[in-house]
Amino acid sequence: MKKVIIRKTEEIENWRRNINSEINFIPTMGNLHNGHIKLISTAKNDNSNVNLVSIFINPLQFDNKLDLENYPQTIDNDIKLSFSNGADAIFIPSNEDIYPQNNKNIKFLKAPIKLSSALCGLNRIGHFDGVCTVVYRLLNLIKPKNLYLGEKDWQQLLILKNLVLRKKLNVAIKSIPTQRDFDGIPLSSRNLHLSKNERKLISFFSNELLEAKKNFQQEKKINLNEIIKKLSAKKITIEYLEHLHPHTLQKARFEDNISLLAGAIKCGETRLIDHVFLMKRRPIIAIDGPAGSGKSTVTKLIAKKLKLLYLDTGAMYRALSWLMIKESIDYKKEKKLHNILKDISIVFKSNTNSHQDVYVNNYCVTEEIRSQKISSIVSKISSIKEVRKFLVEEQRKIGESGGLVAEGRDIGTTVFPHAELKIFLTASIDERAKRRKSDKNSKDSQEIDLHTLKELIKKRDFEDSNREISPLIKANDAIEIITDGYSINEVVDKIIDLYNDKIPKEIEIK
Ligand code: PAF
Repeated sequence: MKKVIIRKTEEIENWRRNINSEINFIPTMGNLHNGHIKLISTAKNDNSNVNLVSIFINPLQFDNKLDLENYPQTIDNDIKLSFSNGADAIFIPSNEDIYPQNNKNIKFLKAPIKLSSALCGLNRIGHFDGVCTVVYRLLNLIKPKNLYLGEKDWQQLLILKNLVLRKKLNVAIKSIPTQRDFDGIPLSSRNLHLSKNERKLISFFSNELLEAKKNFQQEKKINLNEIIKKLSAKKITIEYLEHLHPHTLQKARFEDNISLLAGAIKCGETRLIDHVFLMKRRPIIAIDGPAGSGKSTVTKLIAKKLKLLYLDTGAMYRALSWLMIKESIDYKKEKKLHNILKDISIVFKSNTNSHQDVYVNNYCVTEEIRSQKISSIVSKISSIKEVRKFLVEEQRKIGESGGLVAEGRDIGTTVFPHAELKIFLTASIDERAKRRKSDKNSKDSQEIDLHTLKELIKKRDFEDSNREISPLIKANDAIEIITDGYSINEVVDKIIDLYNDKIPKEIEIK
């Protein structure tokens, strides 16, 4: 494809008509550094869309005239860097192109108060309004499929995600982690203005945040005053240092597993921001739903793609049911049940096909637990209070340090009520019966006629939803996905998009 530079808004329309492809859009204000390059190359590697980089110093987002006048401009180098790192086109509009005078179609937007009045918004009045205005204008001109932004400007990222939702724009936001220089400081165009001494101070500040992140992993708490004291001792002017919920930007609460430690400091005339995410444990995804909703297939694929541990809680109930049948134990006899729970060991092991095998007391039961005989009693066994209590505790032990995706019927409501992402996966009875019938792992289901399968599914749903302990219900904060008519991959991609929206990319960095 011929690489092009577009300077006029009218040319954008023509160019879009000719490319015949979706667009990845990377907006910048120029003076490109490795952070921008990472954005451009990530877009290039993500898909085969056309990559458009824009370079426009947006006057509306500068609250300080001097800052605008001094903003570094390196256009020739920016063009070279963009093209050599994966840009197919560069849009370099003028002020008049973006904000033509007397054009009533230009919308001057306000950023949402709740998100824009915190952190940088306190001192940079109107800054986020300017960002929203220019990005909205650019998105309307370019109409990209994906918008690439850096997590370095986390507050900006939240505000732009909100803009996309509010204006119902058909664009997916993809983010990349903050890129840091050799001395720990985040890459920023404004770093160019720093003297040697200022750079040293900023590096001290960034390394304090990184240190706090490390300590938090062990101690699970943070002492802001201690950090402020250390920074003040170095005569660093702190504009703010806050510990907040990463999405609402309200004060962090004890139960928040992931929180944001964000600060802004001033060195001479230069103001710099930095942040880290504090995490008590790695993220958890909870996937609940009735039998046949596609839970298992979807959960396994998500675990593989996101490199999370896969926890099939249903298999644990089935494994216990298998042992009770094998030992001819009447589940109504409390003492016998108690003894079996005392000694049972249920272990998951990866097999040579990279699937998981289930072992009960060292005996592999992977296939046997899928029989119709087990299906017909598992719901009853799993509604016994003592069984539930025992297995929920086992599941919580497995999930103690997080980093897993668990499937079941009470994951989001009971087992992991603080999971970062909760999905309630479901499908119509007709669809679920059809899926069960064609399930190669379930020979019994293949032999039962469709009508009987539907009746069995209805019965199981009723038992699961009406049992006294941990009934199958959607958690208040779960997102319901009805999988009828969707392919497995479409459902997996949707859940991964939701995960990426909730979990900053930065926290995946070890
Ligand atoms: O992050 C930036 O460089 C700017 O705020 C943006 C998104 C290009 C809008 O001018």
